[in-house]
Amino acid sequence: MESSSRAIFPLIFVLLLTKPWKATTSHYNIDFLKCLATNSNESIPKAYIPSSTSYLPILRSSIYNLRFTSPNTPKPQFIVTPERESQVPTAIICSKEHGLKVTVRSGGHDFEGLSYISNVPFVLIDLANLRNINVDIEDNTAWVQAGATLGELYYRIAEKSPIHGFPAGACHTVAVGGHISGGGFGAMVRKYGVAADYILDARLVKADGEVLNRQTMGRDLFWAIRGGGVASFGVLLAWKIKLVYVPPVVTTSWVTRTLEQGATDLVHKWQSVASRKVPRELAIDLHIGVVDKNHSTAKGGLGRTIQATFQFFFLGPADKLVHVMEKEFPELGVKKQDCMEDSWVKSVINFLGFPVATPVDILLNRTSFPKATFKSKSDFVNKPISKIGLEGIWGMLLKEERPELVIGTWGGKMKHISEHKIAFPHRGKNMYLIDYVSNWDHTNEATTSERHISWIRELYDYMTPYVSKSPRTAFLNYRDLDLGKIKINDTVTYSDARIWGRMYFKNNFKRLVKVKSAIDPHNFFSSEQSIPPILPEEEN
Ligand SMILES: Cc1cc2nc3c(=O)[nH]c(=O)nc-3n(C[C@H](O)[C@H](O)[C@H](O)COP(=O)(O)OP(=O)(O)OC[C@H]3O[C@@H](n4cnc5c(N)ncnc54)[C@H](O)[C@@H]3O)c2cc1C
Ligand SMILES: *[C@@H]1O[C@H](CO)[C@@H](O)[C@H](O)[C@H]1NC(C)=O
Ligand SMILES: *[C@@H]1O[C@H](CO)[C@@H](O)[C@H](O)[C@H]1NC(C)=O
Ligand SMILES: *[C@@H]1O[C@H](CO)[C@@H](O)[C@H](O)[C@H]1NC(C)=O
Ligand SMILES: *[C@@H]1O[C@H](CO)[C@@H](O)[C@H](O)[C@H]1NC(C)=O
Repeated sequence: MESSSRAIFPLIFVLLLTKPWKATTSHYNIDFLKCLATNSNESIPKAYIPSSTSYLPILRSSIYNLRFTSPNTPKPQFIVTPERESQVPTAIICSKEHGLKVTVRSGGHDFEGLSYISNVPFVLIDLANLRNINVDIEDNTAWVQAGATLGELYYRIAEKSPIHGFPAGACHTVAVGGHISGGGFGAMVRKYGVAADYILDARLVKADGEVLNRQTMGRDLFWAIRGGGVASFGVLLAWKIKLVYVPPVVTTSWVTRTLEQGATDLVHKWQSVASRKVPRELAIDLHIGVVDKNHSTAKGGLGRTIQATFQFFFLGPADKLVHVMEKEFPELGVKKQDCMEDSWVKSVINFLGFPVATPVDILLNRTSFPKATFKSKSDFVNKPISKIGLEGIWGMLLKEERPELVIGTWGGKMKHISEHKIAFPHRGKNMYLIDYVSNWDHTNEATTSERHISWIRELYDYMTPYVSKSPRTAFLNYRDLDLGKIKINDTVTYSDARIWGRMYFKNNFKRLVKVKSAIDPHNFFSSEQSIPPILPEEEN
């Protein structure tokens, strides 16, 4: 009994739902700042305390989910903004010395804000200024620092070559630090796999301040940070990535259909066509939302309806895309005049839906993707959902104000990569990944947020029979703190790592726990959803 409760304890993170901890100016402020100064041998990292005028603007600069900008969101005691890699170990050592935890932020897109929120006193290490990108076209590689955004990376690659690219996400303000360590997928996932499949080397700071590379970190840790979420293991300074070939002409297009225009049949057919029938060079992603009807129809008067947008990204010319679609999915009616042919980098912008005339340097603007207030959850689907099932989903969506399903197509190369090759496990039979979202206007009113959050939980329950099972899987990059959360009573909630660990990582979770216990046995890098270390006495 005793030993079994000891075995379980480290796998569970206890959340005390008491008053959130608030930053105060206390005696150890000065000591922490002094520590930064005495431990820096070349330059002292910049640090901000809550009373500095820059503190709030810097804190908010990359909070992508505005749900976490409310006054009672826990805030860091210090924000440190390293400008050189050598300043990061200093920040870690000093935080540890002063009993503070750290959160690490690269691009701030974490759905649950874990890169800048903690329930214990903490230091935010913001890597937005560590964002050098060094592209070596001859070698087909690049070194990219953690705080560089995908947009900056794509721009720097395209600056050197029109036929090189990188298979990561569409949203250009996401940073490589968090994105790649959670897998990272985009419109080239069917052709090439996920971003984490293209990592050749990395620089990582351990809890004791030592900087490791691929060789010194060893195989297990190098395996773990590719899909296991790097935040559990250390601070990622930079990735060395392998570039991929992209053709000189890439085609993008989209088709929208409402229920009245036959969306249900089209979405039903899309499921098997998009992941199984079309070539790997083509991604047909899907966005489903609710729009106002502008004309009354035979089926009903004005009101709201479902609108499905099929978004095409094709590594090749428009003629060929149209040919593929005529053969596999003529009902969608893709026509050449609705297609845009462009370079790969320009197509990334077209695919995001920016106007055609948008200059490529929008990719360098770290705030040009609109921020939002939302709650999100995810599922992988591996067998087609029936039309009746789809109609049930539409019914659920129509009950909500601004719901969205953002759906990424899987299949292609993903079917042929082993689930254990790197820590990212979601391969094989998966057909597509759904990101369920409820958006609302920013408010500090708890009841409004609760209403939308309850709706999305209800939708998630509704989806149970249609999605992956044993375990029901989830995508780490679409972090969801509901997973594995068990309510004991009004004051105590548990987050059970054994539950979310299997959902995010399947059988790779066990190996991640081993790696964690070897690299960070004292659990310095911890959060509500970090990989737990096992205590030595559990191993037998
Ligand atoms: C609008 C939007 C679109 C998105 N589109 C896609 C998509 O197409 N494909 C996809 O795969 N994902 C997508 N995502 C999810 C995104 O990849 C993840 O949220 C990712 O973790 C964000 O990385 P970040 O560095 O910007 O975020 P952050 O919030 O800075 O970090 C996310 C997590 O990683 C940790 N972390 C960040 N940097 C480091 C570091 N240097 N060292 C250690 N730990 C670190 C943080 O502590 C946190 O736990 C999208 C997110 C948003 C908001
Ligand atoms: C001082 O900086 C140099 C160069 O960055 C580095 O190699 C060395 O380890 C640093 N020493 C300490 C004590 O941080
Ligand atoms: C109705 O018009 C609005 C605004 O022009 C548009 O966004 C929406 O998609 C239209 N709805 C339908 C069903 O066409
Ligand atoms: C970046 O984009 C934002 C949002 O579109 C805009 O307000 C800002 O002016 C842009 N910044 C630059 C430097 O262009
Ligand atoms: C809630 O549960 C915890 C842990 O079991 C216990 O210590 C605490 O007293 C409980 N609180 C209430 C109000 O029941």
